[in-house]
Amino acid sequence: MTDPAKLDSLVSRLVDELGGAASVALVRIGDQLGLYTALQKQPMNSHELAQAAGIAERYAREWLAQQAASGYIAYDEASGKFALSPEQAMIFAEEDSPFYMMGAFDAIAANLEGQAKVQAAFRTGAGVEWGAHSACLFCAVARFLRPGYRSNLVSSWLPALDGMVERLQAGARVADVGCGHGVSTALMAAAFPQSEFVGFDFHIGSVEAARRHAADHRVGNIRFEVATAKTFPGTDYDLVTFFDCLHDMGDPIGAAAHVRRSLNPNGTWMIVEPQAGDTLAENLNPVGRLWYAASTMVCVPTSLSQEVGLALGAQGARRGSGRCSPRVASRACVARRTRL
Ligand SMILES: C[S@@+](CC[C@H](N)C(=O)[O-])C[C@H]1O[C@@H](n2cnc3c(N)ncnc32)[C@H](O)[C@@H]1O
Repeated sequence: MTDPAKLDSLVSRLVDELGGAASVALVRIGDQLGLYTALQKQPMNSHELAQAAGIAERYAREWLAQQAASGYIAYDEASGKFALSPEQAMIFAEEDSPFYMMGAFDAIAANLEGQAKVQAAFRTGAGVEWGAHSACLFCAVARFLRPGYRSNLVSSWLPALDGMVERLQAGARVADVGCGHGVSTALMAAAFPQSEFVGFDFHIGSVEAARRHAADHRVGNIRFEVATAKTFPGTDYDLVTFFDCLHDMGDPIGAAAHVRRSLNPNGTWMIVEPQAGDTLAENLNPVGRLWYAASTMVCVPTSLSQEVGLALGAQGARRGSGRCSPRVASRACVARRTRL
């Protein structure tokens, strides 16, 4: 029998969630038209925002109301003005904040754009190539992951590898595989000017974007090449890094074997993967929910489009048995001198 209290609670929750989903387009409008950065400067009413951002007042008024109802900006009834609190600014306006989340909104938009292709693949079991996803996916991924790399990569993830910081300071050879737009590669190259960095990715558009990004930031000890994880050139690397890409690969085991051959005897393979528990039950939480969505729409289709098509998924390759293989434990999961 239907439990009215349970039904009521589920409907209430969905009203809230649909409000979030409906906000994706509005948040991206606020980002792209500079509305959050304008509001960050000072509290404003709709006329002042329209003037500051060069938009029509009627649209500004409606957008402000929706954002205040969402709790994304603050509203002061006495003055009739809207503002960004310091916390809201960290999420919506400050690109260098560790909590900047605009890339996540871009990624959700890319998921929605990808529906037709992925939906068709549900029937056939075929993959969807990384390059065939919505054009904004590649920028969204780079933008989404950048705050985490900026806050952690040089300050805590690399120091977690025994002796690696000293080796990078002295001069090491590093390959960043599946580098995408090269955010991680550029951060490492800027921090360790004595070392040589090469970023590899099989998606030419991403490699071109990475080259532009490095040129804009005048990082000299870095280059980017188109190559797959199983065929990237070079040997004698001191460090090979895989940031958020092993699970996207069709043949992660073949990639691992290639990494093993490309490292020098003291070399290190660093793998960073989305945080996950080992079992489905452990991942039934808000974070697992988002990662499973990304996994269904992007990671699994990408892997299935490649040879072998192992399709580990973004949540640590959980199989029907409830076991996880290979074990991919946390966002800073490090495999040192992995024996293969
Ligand atoms: C989620 S993105 C991560 C990009 C980048 N590492 C970052 O953290 O911003 C996954 C990347 O893996 C790359 N990729 C997937 N399969 C690959 C393969 N077999 N060989 C090389 N790159 C691959 C994709 O092109 C994409 O750039």
